[in-house]
Amino acid sequence: MGKGHGYGKVILFNEHFVVYGIPAIASAIDKKTIAEVKKCSSNEEFILHDEREETPGYKKEKMEHQRESIIRIKRAMGIDQCIEIWLGGDLRAASGVGASAASCAAIARAIADEFGMSCSDAEINEFAYEGEKAYHGNPSGIDNTCATFGGLVWYEKGKDMERMSVKHPVEIVMGDTGIVANTKKAVEGVRERKEKMPELYEKIFDDAKKLVYEARDAIMDEDWELVGKLMNKNHELLQKIEVSSDELDYLVNIAMKAGAYGAKMTGGGLGGYMVALTPGKELQEKVARAIEETGHYALRTKIGI
Ligand code: PMV
Repeated sequence: MGKGHGYGKVILFNEHFVVYGIPAIASAIDKKTIAEVKKCSSNEEFILHDEREETPGYKKEKMEHQRESIIRIKRAMGIDQCIEIWLGGDLRAASGVGASAASCAAIARAIADEFGMSCSDAEINEFAYEGEKAYHGNPSGIDNTCATFGGLVWYEKGKDMERMSVKHPVEIVMGDTGIVANTKKAVEGVRERKEKMPELYEKIFDDAKKLVYEARDAIMDEDWELVGKLMNKNHELLQKIEVSSDELDYLVNIAMKAGAYGAKMTGGGLGGYMVALTPGKELQEKVARAIEETGHYALRTKIGI
């Protein structure tokens, strides 16, 4: 039996903008998907036991993408034989937390382990990227990079990621709208609007570019108040390109009222998760409870692990 893991992630700055080559900052979180893989002798491509916890409806909604994704990973790795796959771990399957990328990296690692292939992390990342294409169409690669390597990363499409490090991991809360979102649709929507309103979008994209460099300095200085303010600004830019939603804005407001340093949607948007920066266990608990009181799931985790 082969075994592998992939980390969940949170995008702290510039989801969507990253698709167009603007830098983004993301971090792996301390929640993982674990895959186990065993060779089997059926005529099927694979037999899957998906035992991950989920936002209700997520797995059903993603079933077709998941099937295509597993076949893509097998092809990329040169595997023809049927495999039996078990998916588990403590990363809840949901939109916006990198669940698809975490499962792709975990499956690729478990296949490599089962078939005795010695793959570097860079190779696993390539296979996970192939798998991600089934979910996203033309992914920037930020999700699979975090899922495979872990850590806090500065990411520019088509370039090697740069690691960023902080002395102390910092608490965040991720609030789940409970809405299973379609990243592909969100990305296509941005492309359509960008073509229709090139001047407006150029201005917004310029602002996103400036902001992410400020954010990098603020993170390096561990100036969390400033990081929080910049996250709020980033949320405004994401609202302007119409990838936020009423539910995301609502949870962002709840987190800010409860004392978060900053909050924004994270990932593809139109549902899925938001993230609040909440340094210290006490503030984290306060914000997580405020989200839970609205009936939503709150994930307590850290960035910079
Ligand atoms: O929805 P998620 O968590 O898979 O994040 C998607 C991030 C985007 O920037 C919207 C798309 C991409 O490929 O980078």
